[in-house]
Amino acid sequence: MDLLIKNGTLVSSSGKYKADISVVNGVISEIGKNLIPDKATKVVDATGKLVLPGAIDLHTHLAMPFGGTVSADDYFAGTRAAVCGGTTTVFDFALQDFNESILDTVKRRDAICAPDAACDYAFHVGIKDLSNGLLTTMDDAVKFGVPTFKAFMVYDFGVQDGDLFRLLEHSKKIGARVSVHAENRDAIAVLTKRFLEEGKTSAWYHYMSRPEWVEEEADIRAINFAKALGAPLYIVHVGSKGGIEAIERAKKEGVEVYAETCPQYLEFTSDVYKRTDARDFVCSPPMKGKKSKDALWRAINMGVVDTVATDHCPFQKTEKDWGKDDFTKIPNGCAGVENMYPYMLSEANKGKTTIETVVKLCSENPAKLSGCKKKGFLKPGYDADIVIYDPKLDFTITNEKMHSDCDHTIWEGKKLKGYPVMTFSRGRLVYENGEFKGERGWGKMVKRSLK
Ligand code: URP
Ligand code: ZN
Ligand code: ZN
Repeated sequence: MDLLIKNGTLVSSSGKYKADISVVNGVISEIGKNLIPDKATKVVDATGKLVLPGAIDLHTHLAMPFGGTVSADDYFAGTRAAVCGGTTTVFDFALQDFNESILDTVKRRDAICAPDAACDYAFHVGIKDLSNGLLTTMDDAVKFGVPTFKAFMVYDFGVQDGDLFRLLEHSKKIGARVSVHAENRDAIAVLTKRFLEEGKTSAWYHYMSRPEWVEEEADIRAINFAKALGAPLYIVHVGSKGGIEAIERAKKEGVEVYAETCPQYLEFTSDVYKRTDARDFVCSPPMKGKKSKDALWRAINMGVVDTVATDHCPFQKTEKDWGKDDFTKIPNGCAGVENMYPYMLSEANKGKTTIETVVKLCSENPAKLSGCKKKGFLKPGYDADIVIYDPKLDFTITNEKMHSDCDHTIWEGKKLKGYPVMTFSRGRLVYENGEFKGERGWGKMVKRSLK
């Protein structure tokens, strides 16, 4: 036995119970009462603490070329920040190049990620180009262990509706799943042009150029495609009331559609775009009005939201400042990978939801939906990705305490009730009491199958 975590309270979506966990070779070997360590076993006393499966963040953009620059966290900084917030597996969006096979995209990004990752990782491929037979190169990626793809219904490099249709149709045939960034590109373009011509250039107009219905309309369009084709669909970073209600209706009709939301949509509203630091909050979709925030919390507690992920895509202050006279020049995205689990657990401690629900949305469902067969649960045979969490520890987020390379955080000053005190990645201690204890290159790619 390499590690024994004693006297803790284990949490799963179905409840809490007191037990010890033993770990051998990075894998949970036994869960039970009064387990006995060997001489060489490292023993951790978790009395008074919760013992949780590490979170799985299904949505990050590390070292991603975007918005005229590259996102501020490379694979080391992003995964270092992740484990310091109790996230032990990170999914990155590998963006396809034009004229590149989809498997080549995965291999190109893995060559950068593998030497740097401090925790386990996996890829979704962000699709740009399906011309000249590239659509069927998805098949090789699925065989390789990458069965999830993202279609951007926005941005100049995103796909048009015809390609979204082809993607959904093909994904069904090959046991893959497509996720969409759902916003109406053309409506945004019209409103953006109009605001700029009228001299309305502040970050507030990032929000105004993407009114709430812009997301809902694209959600409904994607759902209609999926329904017509009988293909599964996953909608990333849902931020609007109309959007989540459309998903709820579709689920009731029997459409296989999954909803992801992010902590920023649960905490902030569009009021942030009136602040002096509004540029720092510019992301797409933008934070919406209070009714949307409330609708998302309701959907969490009604079981309509399937996963919570971060959309971690940070940019430095100087880069955000490129847009001080023109909101379209602000690189879109914010940091969050270190904040998701602590924030969600703290909101549960404050009564917004339950700890069990947080474990389900941040760990169990992400593992099941992404096809990570050995992660997301504290069970014998599963990877020992474990977080020891002190529900009584008060923590105030400041950028100084974060482990990202980004020079600011939208979460600055947020007071949390409870915080992780230790994170283990496959049984190895990688975080303890505010300090990163892991190593560059420790992380391994998780190969997956949706079958
Ligand atoms: O603003 C965001 N979300 N940036 C990252 C790219 C994306 O759309 O997910
Ligand atoms: Zn997106
Ligand atoms: Zn994203």
